[in-house]
Amino acid sequence: MKLADRLENLGTETAFAVSLAAAEWGAKGNRIFPFHLGDLNLPTSQNIVDAMNKAIAAGKTGYCPGAGIPQLREALAANVGGDRGLNFGPENVVVQPGGKPVITKFIQTIMNAGDEVFYPNPGYPIYESQIEYFGGVAVPYRYVPTGTGFSIDLDQIKASITPKTKAIVYNDLQNPNGAESTDAEREAIAEIAIKNNLWVLSDEAYFEMRYEGKSKSIAALPGMAERTVILYTFSKKFAMTGWRLGAAIAPKTIADQIAKLNTNDESCTTHFVQYAGVEAVTGDQSGIPVMLNTLKHRRDVALELLRQMPGVQVHTPEAGFYLFPDVTEAMANKGITDLADFATQALHATGVSFTTRRHFGRPQPGEKEQYIRLAFSGIDASDISDGLKLMGEWIAN
Ligand SMILES: Cc1ncc(COP(=O)(O)O)c(C=O)c1O
Repeated sequence: MKLADRLENLGTETAFAVSLAAAEWGAKGNRIFPFHLGDLNLPTSQNIVDAMNKAIAAGKTGYCPGAGIPQLREALAANVGGDRGLNFGPENVVVQPGGKPVITKFIQTIMNAGDEVFYPNPGYPIYESQIEYFGGVAVPYRYVPTGTGFSIDLDQIKASITPKTKAIVYNDLQNPNGAESTDAEREAIAEIAIKNNLWVLSDEAYFEMRYEGKSKSIAALPGMAERTVILYTFSKKFAMTGWRLGAAIAPKTIADQIAKLNTNDESCTTHFVQYAGVEAVTGDQSGIPVMLNTLKHRRDVALELLRQMPGVQVHTPEAGFYLFPDVTEAMANKGITDLADFATQALHATGVSFTTRRHFGRPQPGEKEQYIRLAFSGIDASDISDGLKLMGEWIAN
């Protein structure tokens, strides 16, 4: 018996293989420093946990509306709109089991087979997977190193537009490279979208995870709210990755279709978890700055040690929890030509486990630099220090 042809186009997060390799190396009695996890080892605030328990005790255990409970839709409309300078109503909010489902539901709502959709590369691998799975053409756009970070290659986007281009996936506050658009870059993306009548998926998973400055949404630019779907998630901001709670914030025409997909796919997002979401958004938020301080300290410990490593260059991301060092020279110094070998040798020599640029899309023609991604969300500062000191010694010798 044969499986469906379209499965040949379904990608995955190959980063899970890194977890496996780290676990295997750890099982042999080695100490592991887990920089590969895009997860948080910090707890969800107690008030959120209590709200969920209260909802269960109150019998919120049956089905609920496919688009989400009204209280959560209202709370998110006010909160997400308020933070971005936009006016949303509950009709614009469709609750999801996490942020990730917004990607597939956006693609299913706006893309026909054969349509072309831009996606960031390096970038979160699920965009490419979902575009191709539903028969679209995934068109990558690249990031160019600027010395202090990365900028989007706008010329590449402009040169790749065709009559079949339907949408742009835009991940400001980027995973994996930590890039953040300047106002000019965000405006340029908006201008391209408007001029070519494109939909935009604005993946704002890291909108609130920032250490300096203030995040801005492309949806707030003139002419953008009506063509933009915002991916909102509780995963990072409230340390709720395993709860699976997020939302699509979208123009009503799109929101209605996404709600219909919800009814088809999961009926509704877990009922009592949505009450925890209401508490997260409207209740005591004093846990957030504490978490951000912890993460900022980790970032700074990691940056200081990385900058002491010969042949390693890294910029300071103001948001997210990933560092994306350029290790081209360090690899050359060690005589290693393959990035996967570099990661394996580092794991075996030091126990430091990380993903690489290769886990975030196929390298594009002309790419010369070699990057690794270190997540500092799932590892304490003392382990960051121990692990990166060992890695520094390994790189220097
Ligand atoms: C850029 C980006 N978008 C979306 C997600 C999905 O988040 P969630 O856990 O809410 O599904 C992630 C998770 O790591 C991410 O990095």
